[in-house]
Parts: sequence; C-alpha cells; structure tokens
Amino acid sequence: MSKQNVYDDKDFFENFQSSRSNDVNFNDCIETPILFGMLPDLHGKKVLDIGCGMGQHARQYSEMGAKSVLGIDLSEKMLQYAREHNSSDHIVYQRMAMEDIDTISETFDLVTSSLVFDYAEDFPGLMQKIHHLMKKDAEFVFSMSHPIVTAWDGVYDRYTRTETGERLYANLRNYCKEGLRKVDWVVNGYECYHRTVSSLINGLIGAGFMIEECQEAHLSDEMRAQYPALFGGTIHRPEFIFFRCKKSN
Ligand SMILES: C[S@@+](CC[C@H](N)C(=O)[O-])C[C@H]1O[C@@H](n2cnc3c(N)ncnc32)[C@H](O)[C@@H]1O
Repeated sequence: MSKQNVYDDKDFFENFQSSRSNDVNFNDCIETPILFGMLPDLHGKKVLDIGCGMGQHARQYSEMGAKSVLGIDLSEKMLQYAREHNSSDHIVYQRMAMEDIDTISETFDLVTSSLVFDYAEDFPGLMQKIHHLMKKDAEFVFSMSHPIVTAWDGVYDRYTRTETGERLYANLRNYCKEGLRKVDWVVNGYECYHRTVSSLINGLIGAGFMIEECQEAHLSDEMRAQYPALFGGTIHRPEFIFFRCKKSN
C-alpha cells in the first residue's frame, strides 16, 4: 500500500505551514469551527487524533479537558513542529501511518481526524481499524476534502470565471471515477484518493458505525465579501465534508 509522505517535502511543508499560520485560512475559518462544533464534551476522555499534523487540535483537545491525547502522523516535520509548539503533559505524539493503527493496543472514547483521509487508499479498511480502536459508545468525528473537490484530476480549471476573474461556477468532471488522483499542486505528482459520497457513507456503515451527523463546509456571506479572492468559491462548492459517528456495539 502506498504511503505518500508529501508533508516531509521541504517546499510542501513550508507552503502548508505558512498558509496555516495566516490568520485567515481555510482550516481556521471553515474547517475547525465546524469540526469542533460536532465534538462531544471532552472532559476525562481518551482521544486519538489521526494525522495530527502540527498538533493544534491535539493541544486544544487537551485544553478542553481531555484526559489524554494520542496524536499520530506520518510526517517527521509535522511531528517535530507539534512537539515544539503544541506539547502538554496530556499529549503523546507518535510517528505512525494511519494504515498501521491496528498495532495500537489501547482503546479510545473519541477518535478525531482533520483532512487526512484524502490520503487513505483503502477507506473501508481504515474505518474498520478505527472501529476496533473505539470503546463501546465512543464517538468518531472527522473531516476530509469533499468528494466534489477530490474529483479534480488536474486537467481542467476548478472554476469557470468571467473575464474579470469572478467565479461563475465550479467545474466537475469524472466524479464517478473513483481512485487515485495524481496532480501538480504545490509539488509535482501530489497524490490523494477520490471516492464518492455514497462510498464514504457505505464505508462507515460497513464498519459498523452509526452516522449521527453529516455536514458540508459553509461560510457566511460576510466572510466571503471580506475575502473574495480566498473564499469566493465557497458559494459554489463545499470544500470539506464532516461526519460524527458512534460505535453502537
Ligand atoms: C492537511 S494535513 C492536516 C493536519 C492536521 N490534522 C490539521 O488539521 O492541521 C494532513 C496530515 O495528514 C498526514 N498524513 C498523510 N498521510 C498519512 C498517513 N498515511 N498516515 C498518517 N498521517 C498521514 C500528513 O503528514 C499531514 O500532517
């Protein structure tokens, strides 16, 4: 199974770090508020954060009362940043591929993941491994790029625009063709996996999850008007999809 580790590429890492450190970015303005709004009360909970990256969420989970947070990630550079900037006595950062989480011997009250499952080749298999790591009645809250976004194969413009550059509508092609997308984005040959919305839902159901909530990314008209170049496209397509699931037995 391929495990692309693009976040250890110097240029990709620096690009991600710099966009994440801007006050106005997709993570902080769109993704994180929706994800955090779907979280249960964290007090006393054992949390697993899959693809913890630079550790911002792990640190917030700890500050929100989690008993412990295990953050796993494939990238040394991301983990190094997390250890330097987002440490706490309640957090352990560990280098591990999400494909290998079946080697973890403990179970959790809450499993979270932000924008990582785009890189999972075997989504149904990963959902089964996560299900096994959860205690009874534990919750699973995650985000990933919306399938409308991952459908992009790099050979067409994401938006059709007016002559002055205003986004008229979002383009979509080959949505029904699932699988690897290899595109030139920040680096040449960036890889992620595209699957349809029904494949996501059926992957969760097949693993034994009860889906309690699903959201698609949304943003206020005020934010769009304030930052049209960055967020203008969000009226046409949701960048992210979110699920809150429960292990029912
Ligand atoms: C878009 S970043 C998100 C980071 C963090 N969750 C956040 O919200 O800022 C994706 C993260 O997934 C990690 N990742 C990619 N493939 C992975 C894999 N196979 N196993 C574990 N982590 C992986 C990357 O190293 C990166 O830190």
